[in-house]
Amino acid sequence: MGRTSKDKRDVYYRLAKENGWRARSAFKLLQLDEEFQLFQGVTRAVDLCAAPGGWSQVLSQKTGGQEGGQVLAVDLQAMAPLPGVTQIQGDITQLSTAKEIIQHFQGCPADLVVCDGAPDVTGLHDVDEYMQAQLLLAALNIATHVLKPGGCFVAKIFRGRDVTLLYSQLRIFFSSVLCAKPKSSRNSSIEAFAVCQGYDPPEGFKPDLSKPLLDHSYDPDFNQLDGPTRVIVPFVTCGDLSAYDSDCSYPLDLQDGSKYRYTPPTQPPISPPYQEACTLKKMGRLAKEVRPEDGPISRAATMPQPLDTQLAPEMEGLPLISASPGCPNYVHSFP
Ligand SMILES: C[S@@+](CC[C@H](N)C(=O)[O-])C[C@H]1O[C@@H](n2cnc3c(N)ncnc32)[C@H](O)[C@@H]1O
Repeated sequence: MGRTSKDKRDVYYRLAKENGWRARSAFKLLQLDEEFQLFQGVTRAVDLCAAPGGWSQVLSQKTGGQEGGQVLAVDLQAMAPLPGVTQIQGDITQLSTAKEIIQHFQGCPADLVVCDGAPDVTGLHDVDEYMQAQLLLAALNIATHVLKPGGCFVAKIFRGRDVTLLYSQLRIFFSSVLCAKPKSSRNSSIEAFAVCQGYDPPEGFKPDLSKPLLDHSYDPDFNQLDGPTRVIVPFVTCGDLSAYDSDCSYPLDLQDGSKYRYTPPTQPPISPPYQEACTLKKMGRLAKEVRPEDGPISRAATMPQPLDTQLAPEMEGLPLISASPGCPNYVHSFP
């Protein structure tokens, strides 16, 4: 696959690089704003699960950046710095991170809290949905501490089996809750965004970091909401109807007649997990993949092994590392 193939398959990935956004997800927030005018009057915002920083870039621009606006970005991963954005590296489900965020807004609440958090998906739908729900609840819990009355909360949501429970919890705190799907979010993904406007906690509600939202006991029977306890929220697709379809491949020369020119990513990952594999590959030290059609695994031992003869002197004696440890189709070491 050439380096342009992702540009062809994913038009938003390509446009993000061309427009200087760190991530294609920037378009999701922009399209949500087109529909809901999220940034009106917003000067203080929190971006939960922010790396690599596409949403923070949008927030920083829309809140006036260094000239008065204030954006706090939080993520498990380190993020390259952005002007006008303060960063906290931490887990939003941890009490210590939540406290740090709350402290930042002490005495001066935020107008907007967003969360594009996604756990590493396992492929087990129930587990993935549960993890996503926990992230959203952690974000909501933080929002209840830092949002001003009338403020807005936007969070990624998986439209899975128990989503109505989440809507019900959100409706307790916001006068309007709906579910939005921007054009730049693939149809094939169960991802959508809960757009919650008009922060209005129930009378007598006292934000508490341990109760009830960070309570990890999740009763499955309670999720089957029926009758008056079942909340059905409106579902809205947003983004101009003429916007690109994120599930389509587009020719490299787009319709507006502009000639295609490859654009490198705006902000390459600062310490990606595959960095070691790339270094080893450059040095010819990455183990070779053996496919089933190449014959039985044991043949690998008898295959010519040119890598050994190309060893850089400084790499002599170092262990060889497979691109995919744990996968039986990969050879883990050479003699
Ligand atoms: C889809 S990315 C966010 C992209 C971001 N909105 C942007 O525009 O660049 C999801 C992020 O969620 C973060 N994340 C997942 N679980 C988290 C947690 N418990 N605490 C903080 N960040 C978390 C991941 O590290 C990842 O960077």
